[in-house]
Amino acid sequence: MSISLSVHSGNSIGFKILKYLKMKKTLLFSVIFIVFLSQMGYNQQQISLKAAYKKDFLIGTALGAEHIHERNEVANHLIKKEFNAITPENHMKSGLIHPEWGRYDFDIADKYVAYGKKNGMYVVGHTLVWHSQLPKFATQLQNVDSIRSFMTEHIKTVASRYAGQINSWDVVNEALNEDGTMRKSIFLKLGEGYIKEAFDLAAKIDSKAELYYNDYNIEQPAKRKGAIGIIKKLQASGSKINGVGIQGHWSINTLNLQEIEDAIIEFSNLGVKVAFTELDLTVLPNPWDLKGADINQNFEGNPQMNPYINGLPDSVGVVLAEKYEQLFKLFLKHKDKISRVTFWGVNDGHSWLNGFPIRNRTNYPLLFDRNFQPKLAYQSVINLKK
Ligand code: G3I
Repeated sequence: MSISLSVHSGNSIGFKILKYLKMKKTLLFSVIFIVFLSQMGYNQQQISLKAAYKKDFLIGTALGAEHIHERNEVANHLIKKEFNAITPENHMKSGLIHPEWGRYDFDIADKYVAYGKKNGMYVVGHTLVWHSQLPKFATQLQNVDSIRSFMTEHIKTVASRYAGQINSWDVVNEALNEDGTMRKSIFLKLGEGYIKEAFDLAAKIDSKAELYYNDYNIEQPAKRKGAIGIIKKLQASGSKINGVGIQGHWSINTLNLQEIEDAIIEFSNLGVKVAFTELDLTVLPNPWDLKGADINQNFEGNPQMNPYINGLPDSVGVVLAEKYEQLFKLFLKHKDKISRVTFWGVNDGHSWLNGFPIRNRTNYPLLFDRNFQPKLAYQSVINLKK
């Protein structure tokens, strides 16, 4: 009896453990199954950004070499499913495409253009004239003639190679200071007229491409005034300019919808299209926002400046979604003036904001997470169209 009892009670504990383990296993499998289903659901659903906004404006993304080479099937699938416009994040910049005087490296740029064509996408050329990411030899040019020759040869060679295949060129990028005056770049040594020279040359070489002036912070009044000046001068002298690109590198903490709306209206009143060319919303603290912060200070490795290394808290994800919703509501209100909204990167892991203005941080500025899954912000942008 005692033996049978102990066996019996032994069985009962074993049974309970087994039952517990089974429950845990079932729970685990259920969670995995739900995640799997939700991912399948996303991958299989027909809805996409480009379909939702088809009648409103193009939806673009910036591609790095890894995307152009189609190295990651998940990324590749997502790009083709969600976006109908592309911009090369780096590979058409002079530093990469024109590394030495007279020597060009078109390899990745050619593949980029072919990728856009193959997938029926709107192909942006970025960018012909920019003071940054110049080839080393160009930064050392001193006299006006050699600077002019660099700029014109560069435009002629690059724009003619892709003539008829680029839908729009960012002809001149970031020519302004924050106060709206002209940036003292090497190109300004040619006089302010270098902008007209660049636009006229681009128009002559590729008559089909739309031509844009592209800059950041030009929604802000002082810099906006500078951009309006550039556009008006081009127009007054008979140059072709189709649009202005407001880059849209903003923050969830300081997003200013009023300024953005004022800029859309003012630019559009000049008769040019407005594109949002490099949209992202940082969720991280900015060293420039810190009172008395010395921007030369090295913030790398400071945990206060990199608070979400283990994931984005739900509360911040909600704020990001709200900000994107407000922005896209505004874009929809002015859809008659807006040609394109391009995100600066495919997913959070790819964003330049993980490395700027402080290196090695974990940022979450886009609509897709590091596993290429749509975030709450994606749903909020899509829901506006439901
Ligand atoms: O290619 C080199 C690689 O060989 C080297 O090992 C590595 C080491 O740092 O650097 C690589 O180059 C980097 C390049 O991106 C390609 O990944 C540069 O360091 C890095 O500075 C460069 O950053 C780009 C930045 O422009 C340059 O100014 C960003 O990816 C790109 O997102 C950013 O894009 C600009 C737009 O073109 C214009 N508007 C502002 C926007 C953000 O800065």
